[in-house]
Amino acid sequence: MPDIIQLLPDSVANQIAAGEVVQRPASAVKELMENALDSGATHIKLIVKDAGKTLIQVIDNGCGMSETDARMSFERHATSKIRKADDLFSIRTMGFRGEALASIAAIAQVEMRTRRIGDEIGVKIDIEGSEIKNQEACSTPEGTSISVKNLFYNVPARRNFLKTDSVELRHIIDEFQRVAIPNPEIAFTFHHNTTEVFNLPVGNLKQRLMNLFGTSYNSRLVPVEEETGIVNIKGFVTKPEFAKKTRGEQFFFLNKRFIKNGYLHHAVQSAFEQLLPGDSFASYFLMLDVDPKTIDINIHPTKTEVKFEDEKAVYAFLRSTVKKSLGQFNIAPSLDFDQEAHLYNMPLKPIDGIIKAPTIKVDPNYNPFKTETPPTYRKNYTDRELSNRANWEKMYSRHSENQHELEIQKEDSQQSISPDWDNELHESNKKTTYQLHSKYILSHIKTGFMVIDQQGAHERILYERIMDSLEKHKSATQQELFPKTLELNAADFALVQELHAEIQAMGFDISEFGKNTFVIHGVPADTVNYDSAALLEGLIENYKQNLLELKSDKRENLARSMACNMAIKAGKTLAQEEMNNLIDELFACKMPYSTPGGKPTVTTFSLEDLDKRFKK
Ligand SMILES: Nc1ncnc2c1ncn2[C@@H]1O[C@H](COP(=O)(O)OP(=O)(O)OP(=O)(O)O)[C@@H](O)[C@H]1O
Ligand SMILES: [Mg+2]
Repeated sequence: MPDIIQLLPDSVANQIAAGEVVQRPASAVKELMENALDSGATHIKLIVKDAGKTLIQVIDNGCGMSETDARMSFERHATSKIRKADDLFSIRTMGFRGEALASIAAIAQVEMRTRRIGDEIGVKIDIEGSEIKNQEACSTPEGTSISVKNLFYNVPARRNFLKTDSVELRHIIDEFQRVAIPNPEIAFTFHHNTTEVFNLPVGNLKQRLMNLFGTSYNSRLVPVEEETGIVNIKGFVTKPEFAKKTRGEQFFFLNKRFIKNGYLHHAVQSAFEQLLPGDSFASYFLMLDVDPKTIDINIHPTKTEVKFEDEKAVYAFLRSTVKKSLGQFNIAPSLDFDQEAHLYNMPLKPIDGIIKAPTIKVDPNYNPFKTETPPTYRKNYTDRELSNRANWEKMYSRHSENQHELEIQKEDSQQSISPDWDNELHESNKKTTYQLHSKYILSHIKTGFMVIDQQGAHERILYERIMDSLEKHKSATQQELFPKTLELNAADFALVQELHAEIQAMGFDISEFGKNTFVIHGVPADTVNYDSAALLEGLIENYKQNLLELKSDKRENLARSMACNMAIKAGKTLAQEEMNNLIDELFACKMPYSTPGGKPTVTTFSLEDLDKRFKK
């Protein structure tokens, strides 16, 4: 028998390695931008077409490469960043594995143009599926430009696996932010198709965050800073009142590299302790600086997981530093001398009279579930809804021979409610719905009782209502007396532009108003009691979250996001009529038994079960 083991050709080995390094267009963006950072560039441009599926181009004004290095850079394990094993413990560069370009060139058509600072002429290399197609001298600016075209053109399974453009673009924006945040001394631009998504001038960290996430961040951020022997910590957390319902902006950077670390996340989250409502998250942008000797970043090819020599100590320092900053901020709100210098140049005006602390008016009786008119049953049910309702009414019907029910009825009638319940569904509802812990609605049914999750049920009702308006392209809009403006970051602004038609169909009336800003002229008619800007902001936030987690289409995602945003929450006390209305509307839905996210809305308990429990 002949020997059968062979070394794989480089192109195949590279393609296998690429599977780990390049999972989607965003991974290529990350690798190219990190190379640009390592080149010492002061200006980095990212150009993307069709969410990276057609083109990803990164242009830098860094050190550039010689002709030989340019060719070498596409070889596997070829790097200028480390020389020997020991160097792995003093890494200050983003790259060191020498495999990113080789991997990318194995699964795409790549064009590199590069010129070293001081060289007269540059070089252009075309490489495709690890094969050099062309190499020639060319005139090009100092620095490097790498274009990656038709990613995964030779790996159809991977290409087909890519998600929609919005999802892939979201991932690219995430990677772009992860590189841009810890490097405010470098200017960045990012174009997608014909849109400029970000234009980030050189500045300090706070300015960088405002450019990325909107100027409203100026008043949201609390500075965090501490130097210890083990770790230096610098950055910002957001004030507790700006916590988000979804994990929004949470960034750790270790020696300027974005890392994911659940343990350290816990340290920050627990520093907020009672300051945050249970179901919300603070945003944070924290730079940790440690001696590279005390960490190992060579755990995974994407380098986002890191092993610390003393993780417990880092946890403890992080937690106490964030806690201290929050404490200081509570006592003395910080003034930012970079941003608020104009405050000191303002002429001092004498103030007459007594200065009153601003007050916030809260309507304790406000209930988002309540409609303007007293709750009534809808009159115009469709055939399907009627049949659902009929079933529900059957279930609700009290023609029970069951003795236990009769006992309850007796009790009910003692509470001076009309005994004529047989024909009066509405009345019988009134008698037989109870709210448990401001969270669940409990109601008698023929065979026992049922428990409804009020939040889930309301989500289902709203979801179907919103889907309906999206499909029919019509819903009532209530014009705002005082239109509100909503300033967004560039990425969210682009998202709202993309969703404009659907958002309009949901009943919002919005129009663009200068850079990254919308004016809200009107809101969906059943949301008049909400803060319109917060409503729209919440919608975008939920939409983005769903985008990454779900496979749902645009409309479904919007309807889910809005329903989740508007639904009454656990903890809300409901009046009898509101509970009846909720039950009635729920059973008029196409799918009353689950939330749009697939969780149950209703569960039933039979009398038999109860009887069993009381038997000895
Ligand atoms: N934009 C650039 N400017 C200058 N040199 C570059 C640039 N991109 C790549 N190089 C050179 O090509 C080499 C190979 O790049 P590649 O990204 O494949 O590996 P790496 O950055 O060394 O390690 P890693 O695989 O961890 O990213 C780099 O070490 C660097 O010398
Ligand atoms: Mg690299």
